[in-house]
Formats: sequence, structure tokens, C-alpha cells
Amino acid sequence: MTHVLVTGGAGFIGSNFVKYILEMHADWHVTTLDKLTYAGRLENLEEVRDVPRHRFVEGDICNRDAATALVQDADFVVHFAAETHVDRSILSAGEFIHTDVFGTFVLLEAARQAPRLKRFVQISTDEVYGSVAEGASRETDELRPRNPYAASKAGADRLAYSYWATYRVPVIITRASNNYGPHQFPEKVIPLFITNALHDLSLPLYGDGQNVRDWLHVRDHCAALDLLLEKSTPGEVYNVGGGNEVKNIDLTHDILTLVGKPPSLIQPVADRLGHDRRYSLDTAKIRTLGWTQAHAFADGLAETVEWYTRNEWWWRPIKEQDLAFRDYYRQQYEERGKGVKG
Ligand code: NAD
Ligand code: DAU
Repeated sequence: MTHVLVTGGAGFIGSNFVKYILEMHADWHVTTLDKLTYAGRLENLEEVRDVPRHRFVEGDICNRDAATALVQDADFVVHFAAETHVDRSILSAGEFIHTDVFGTFVLLEAARQAPRLKRFVQISTDEVYGSVAEGASRETDELRPRNPYAASKAGADRLAYSYWATYRVPVIITRASNNYGPHQFPEKVIPLFITNALHDLSLPLYGDGQNVRDWLHVRDHCAALDLLLEKSTPGEVYNVGGGNEVKNIDLTHDILTLVGKPPSLIQPVADRLGHDRRYSLDTAKIRTLGWTQAHAFADGLAETVEWYTRNEWWWRPIKEQDLAFRDYYRQQYEERGKGVKG
């Protein structure tokens, strides 16, 4: 029996991955370990709640006993759990260092003792390369992370590699670009802008709106990870990029068109501190293993808008009733819009 341990499986990508694996591998068992922070939501796993091959464990990856016990039984560990929002890391970095670096260390220590472990997948990010003015980042490029989130992920990325180099834990590292799709927490730009537009609220666009992100559909990311479980080489890094580089201003207009709302909703606001201008990934390495995207960006974005339109039950309570989210939103955006010309 193949057993996959997914950390952070109640979050956006993790929950999509849990469902993807259960769907693609009829005889595999999946355990989700998640602390259920503000970003972890059991609703994301609603579809698999009654699937006997899935087990949900509420717990913290920083807790040695919990982590060790679960890692021991795993054939694959796919480690998504992290603090993930750049703007929050700029407000307060401590939790990012703790979860993303120390939490990864706890899991890697447990992995040293795991008798059946075939792969430990460290989910890293394209942000570890830093801002890329020209060309595309290759797996061998230097890491130049420029915000506390990116730096904590770079620390975890290299720590994971060190456990391969030193102890031969069968680690691989994946560096994906910006994901989009259903169940993404409405602090990230696509769900925030869709849900604001649906309610005629302004869309706070940072700086000049010319920053570029490379969009990857979450199911395409899941397919890449699934392929890598079986076709990767321990110790290697794999970029997973969407090949859809879009300026934020163009993305914003596309969202408004899909929702059917006017450009007057765009509100230019003060820029993010240290805002990386552009990310871009060279994906030749994973393509040689046979991975390709199934989702064209225009279709994927339209489906995503439709998902948020049909699933207000999922995001409306977060945005309207969750006091922590409302506090965060005020702290993040209240001052930002003042004095910036629209
Ligand atoms: P998310 O914020 O939606 O989910 C993170 C999950 O981790 C949540 O369910 C949360 O409860 C859980 N978690 C946090 N701290 C934990 C802890 N101490 N113990 C156990 N669980 C904990 O994040 P996401 O966007 O799904 O990202 C998942 C992973 O993918 C992260 O490692 C992130 O760095 C990486 N990544 C994300 C993107 C993206 O575009 N979203 C792109 C590249 C890489
Ligand atoms: O590149 C991969 C990374 O993508 C992941 O590692 C991170 O976990 C994930 O959060 C994401 O980081 P970004 O900072 O790129 O995503 P975010 O959705 O926060 O912002 C995308 C772009 O949109 C960025 O240039 C900032 C801009 N933005 C964002 C928000 C929230 C705005 O203009 N206004 C906003 O309100």
C-alpha cells in the first residue's frame, strides 16, 4: 500500500493536491497533517471527508512527536505547510521563520528515520530566485530572495537539499510560479480582486501595476508533483512554471472584464516594500520528464472567476465575518490608498 503524507493539505494547493492524488491513484492512502491556521480550512477537504483512503490529522509540523509518528509510515512526504503570504511576512516575519524553516527541519529530522520513504518533496517557490529582469531562472541559478517569506522558503529549500547531501534523505525540491484556481484564500491577488469586484469594492493595485507574475493552474501544478513522485531524481531541483507571464494591470483588467465590472474599480495604492518586479522560470527540465500544462490561462482564469462567483459560501464568511481577516485587511490597505492618485 502506498501512503502519502501531505503537510498543509487543508490550504489552497495542498487541498487540491490531496484530491488530485486520491482521484489519480485508486489504491493510494493519503494523510493530511495541518494546523488549520487562518489559511487552512476543512471546507477545502469537504469532497474527501468520507473517503476512507483519506485521513485528516490536525497538528503542527513544528511538533516533533506528531510529525515523527506520521512521517514514519510514509512512502512519500509532500511538504506544503507554510506561512505563504508575502505581505504578511512584511508586516511580521517571525511565524514565517518558525514554520517555514524550523517546521521543515522537524520534518526532515523525522524523515532521516523513515524506513519506507521514497521521496520527500520540499515545495519551494520561484520567489527564491528573486526578481528577474531578463530571461528565465534555471534550477542552477543563484538564490537571491528579497522578502522575508522568500528568504524563509530559500532557507527551507537549501536545508532540505542538505539532508540529501548529508544523510541521503531522498529529497527533491520544486520551485513553482504563482498558482491560481479554486480554494485560494482571498488575500492573494486573484481571489481578492475577483471577490472585491463581485461586491463592487475597489481593487488595490500596487505601485504602477507593471509587475509580472507567471500564472500556473493549481491542477497543472498537482500533475507536475504527481509525475515527480515517480520520475524524479533525489537531490534535484525542478522548476514548475505556468508559461503565462502577465502584468498585474493586465490581469486586473481581465478579471474586471470576466466579472463584468468597470475599470473605475481599480485603485492604485502604495507599492509593496521590496516588490519583486518579475518572476520567470525555465521549465525545460520538467518538460523533458513529460510534463505539460493542460490549462490555457484565459480558460483557467474564466473558470476561476466562475468558481468564486458560484461559491460565495466559501469566501464571504472569511471576508465579512472573520475578525482576524478584517483586521488584517484594514492594516494592509487602509493607509496604503491615501494620497495615491487614481
Ligand atoms: P496556503 O497558505 O493556502 O496553505 C498553507 C497551509 O499550511 C494551510 O492549510 C495552513 O493551515 C498550513 N500550515 C501552516 N502552518 C502550519 C504548521 N505549522 N503545521 C501544519 N500546517 C500548517 O498556501 P498555498 O498557497 O497552498 O501554498 C502551499 C505551499 O506552496 C507553500 O509551501 C508555499 O510556499 C508554496 N508555493 C505556493 C505558491 C502559490 O502561488 N500559492 C507558489 C509556489 C509555492
Ligand atoms: O511566485 C510564487 C509565490 O506567489 C508564492 O510562493 C507565494 O506563496 C504566493 O503568495 C505568491 O506570491 P505573490 O506575492 O506573487 O502573490 P500575491 O497574490 O500576493 O501578489 C501577486 C501580485 O499582485 C504581486 O505583484 C503583488 C500584486 N498585488 C497583490 C495584492 C494582494 C496587488 O497589486 N494588490 C494586492 O492587493
